[in-house]
Order: sequence, then C-alpha cells, then structure tokens
Amino acid sequence: MKKVRKAVLPVAGLGTRVLPIAKSTPKNLLNVVDRPILSYIVAEARAAGIEHICFITGRGQEAIEHYFDRQPEIEDILRAKGKDDLLAELLGEAGRPGEMSFVRQGEPHGLGHAVWCAREVIGDEPFAVILPDMLMDANPGTLSQAIAAYEKVGGNIVVVEPCPDGQAHKYGIVALGERDGRLAPMTGMVEKPAPGTEPSNLFISGRYILQPEIFEALSAHEKGAGGEIQLTDAMARLMRSQKFHALEYDGVTYDCGDKVGLLRANVAFALKRPDLAAAAREAIEALLRA
Ligand code: UTP
Repeated sequence: MKKVRKAVLPVAGLGTRVLPIAKSTPKNLLNVVDRPILSYIVAEARAAGIEHICFITGRGQEAIEHYFDRQPEIEDILRAKGKDDLLAELLGEAGRPGEMSFVRQGEPHGLGHAVWCAREVIGDEPFAVILPDMLMDANPGTLSQAIAAYEKVGGNIVVVEPCPDGQAHKYGIVALGERDGRLAPMTGMVEKPAPGTEPSNLFISGRYILQPEIFEALSAHEKGAGGEIQLTDAMARLMRSQKFHALEYDGVTYDCGDKVGLLRANVAFALKRPDLAAAAREAIEALLRA
C-alpha cells in the first residue's frame, strides 16, 4: 500500500458567501482568533504526515504564498527583543523548503476541476484533498483519522458527518453498506437529494483520500450540479471500479466559508485558548447580557 504523502488544498473558489471581504482577502486567509484558517489546515496536514501541499489558487490570491514565506525583518526584530516564543511560532508557520507548491486553476470551473489541476504535482500515488473552508476541531486531526482508515481498508476514503435535521438536500449525501464502527463501505452518493429521498443523514464534509485514477475520471470535464465540474460525479464514476469507504470522523466542524460558521469558529477557538479563554468568556457574556 502506497503512503499518502501529498495533499491538495483547493482555495480558488470565489467565496461569494463571504463577500464583500472575499473581494480583497482570500477567504481562507480570514482569521480564526489570531491566525488564518489555512494555518490550522496546514497544521492538520503536517500532523497527518503530509510532506507536500499543493494549493490550487486563483487570481488575486498571492497573499496566500506570502503568508507561508519567511519574514527575515520581523524575525530579526523578535530575535533582538528576545521574543523567542513568538519567533518560534512564526518560524513554525512558514513553509519548509520545497514543502508547498501553488498551481493556478485559471478559471473556477468547480471543485472537481480544481483537483484535476493538481494532476502533474500528484502523479501516480494516493493523495489527500482537504477543503480548507471546513475547519475541524478533532484529536487526532481529521486527516490523521482518514489516513488511519486508509491504512486499514485501502482504496478511497471520504470523511462524512451527520447533517442537521432536514438539511440533507443542501449537501452531498452518501449511501452506505454495513458499518464497522466509524467506517462503512460506500455504495453510492448523491449531490443535494430531494427532501425525503436521502440515502442516509451523512454528508461529505471536506477530507478525502483518493487514488490517482480520479484524475482520469475528472478528465472528461463533465459539468454537473450548478454547471460546475463536480468531484462527487468523478468519485461516483470511480466507484464502479474501485472501493470507497466513508469514515464518520470524531470531532466538530466549522464551515468557515459561511459568515456565521466563521463567527462560531472564532468564539469556539478563543474559548479553547488557555491564554484567551477567560477574557473571551467575559466579553461574550457581557455582550449577551447587554
Ligand atoms: P465552495 O463551493 O464551498 O467554495 O467550494 P466557493 O465557490 O469558494 O464558495 P461560495 O459558495 O461562492 O461562497 C469548495 C472548495 O472548493 C474550492 C473552494 O475554494 C473551496 O475550498 N474551489 C471551488 C476551487 O478551488 N475552485 C473552484 O472552481 C470551485
């Protein structure tokens, strides 16, 4: 079984749900407390043993590359002032030599098209896809859980979670065979099922382990829901010849591509930070009393 060494992070979407800020700031650079969403996502990938991260970017997203650059001027100042903790934190954030590549999508034709753009970087090996809008608070990290599942059953892994009651029609929903704990073989998937027809209450929530044959399935460039090239459609095609398992991961998801989701993430992560929790709680309680 080949090891999962590379991850694709598609960040080229237009972010219409977080306009107007997404006009000038790539949405994955929006902050959760004091760091961009992407910082947490890269940490999750590294913790899972990922050695190379391929960002799929679009126009106006150069700030993402800059964020992961070293900043010698600031580093020198922190060093001179003896702010060693902050310096170590900054150095940890930076991309390691050769660790990151940035591939332009060219035109935002959908998530499937974005993943297809990584084909030359990924080559002939299994890889992870992380949707960076979906910030997950999990221990071990969600990608680590997905890779552990892959090492157990092989093939392709799709991370899922229960969707809120009555909301299945908004999501990609999986159909499953018999469960073994948190894992179950997938028998199908449907994008935005009509109410009452959903095969389960589990939706595809933003972490995947895929075999390289997905690129062939994507190369047809067939448009699906919303006129976009959908990853779900290509996975459904690949499912005819390869096995897929769904993993119901253990953790909490914050959809940071949505205004309220981003706010929830900020509150939840501030309340978990030992250096901020007390002050954050006091501020939130005062606001709620007002
Ligand atoms: P979404 O549909 O959630 O993102 O795509 P979006 O299009 O940016 O957001 P809204 O709905 O307009 O607010 C899921 C993921 O796929 C990426 C997005 O950046 C996001 O991480 N994506 C989507 C691309 O990289 N390219 C695309 O053409 C479409």
